[in-house]
Amino acid sequence: MTRVFSGIQPTGEMHLGNYVGAVRRWVDDQERAEAIYCVVDLHAMTVPYDPSVFRSETQRLAMLLLAAGLDPQRCIVFVQSHVPLVTELTWILNGIATVGELRRMTQFKDKSHGQESVSAGLFDYPVLMAADILLYDTDEVPVGDDQTQHVELARDIAIRFNHRFGDTLVVPRATIPPVGARVKDLQRPEAKMSKSIDSPQGTILVLDSPAAITKKVRSAVTDSGSEVRFDPDEKPGVSNLLALYASATGTGVAQAEGEFAGAQYGTFKAAVAEALVEYLRPVRERYEELAADPGEVARILAGGAAKAEAIATVTMERVRSSTGLLLPE
Ligand code: TRP
Repeated sequence: MTRVFSGIQPTGEMHLGNYVGAVRRWVDDQERAEAIYCVVDLHAMTVPYDPSVFRSETQRLAMLLLAAGLDPQRCIVFVQSHVPLVTELTWILNGIATVGELRRMTQFKDKSHGQESVSAGLFDYPVLMAADILLYDTDEVPVGDDQTQHVELARDIAIRFNHRFGDTLVVPRATIPPVGARVKDLQRPEAKMSKSIDSPQGTILVLDSPAAITKKVRSAVTDSGSEVRFDPDEKPGVSNLLALYASATGTGVAQAEGEFAGAQYGTFKAAVAEALVEYLRPVRERYEELAADPGEVARILAGGAAKAEAIATVTMERVRSSTGLLLPE
């Protein structure tokens, strides 16, 4: 069976872009593949962060993933640092990855640009990500376009490793989301919705109240003209809302376009807001149930880590043996 692995960082709140673009696909994949999903807390430590909220943010994101529909009976959900073998594999892969290829990572260039001080961890981040992927014998890695370069690197590292030490690691490949799943910022529809852009009004959070969702959709940037039409170049704002409506209601974009032919922007936005409120309502409700039962969440994460560790242990036995490490008695 195909093994799928993906990760998400516990920084900031989960927003609609993460949900539609990534997490919903993860939910689908647990039905067809052996899926492993990870809250990558160690990755989040490569940039300055606030330790007083780090633990609760990690916990919160894990709860959101469960609320969004990841089912611990159908997939593995765990916290990266709970399986410390990943750091051992990172170190070993550091002997395979080259400074030259890490320097070419566009995310590193973007994140380090103009910074006075950049951690060694930020530079090595893609190797930790490669270790995540390779530790779990991953075939497919569902990621956004901004991460495909990192998955390519993981692939190159696996191939080089196997060449140097004999067949040891599964060579992974990235799977990227369909175009309709790329949610744009409501205020700046030319940019993708993200937690890093400073645009609170343009970003719908998965746990936003219905009132907040409605307000953000109502103030979304629409384009000149008054036609509700799917045309991402000419009408990026309206097209983004149409795509969101289609995702939320499970219809196609063309069908959504037909539904609003001749409608005013105001009517259209009200319908989009309502669809999004209903779409996110079950997630918010499940989240509240989980939040009331932290013991249950801890049990789920412990179970996930135990299953993940069992897989990782077997991989690391192969890695230690093929790399020639002296094995302890
Ligand atoms: N770097 C990814 C991101 O920021 C998160 C991540 C860490 C990841 N490890 C991973 C994604 C392994 C896929 C597979 O989105």
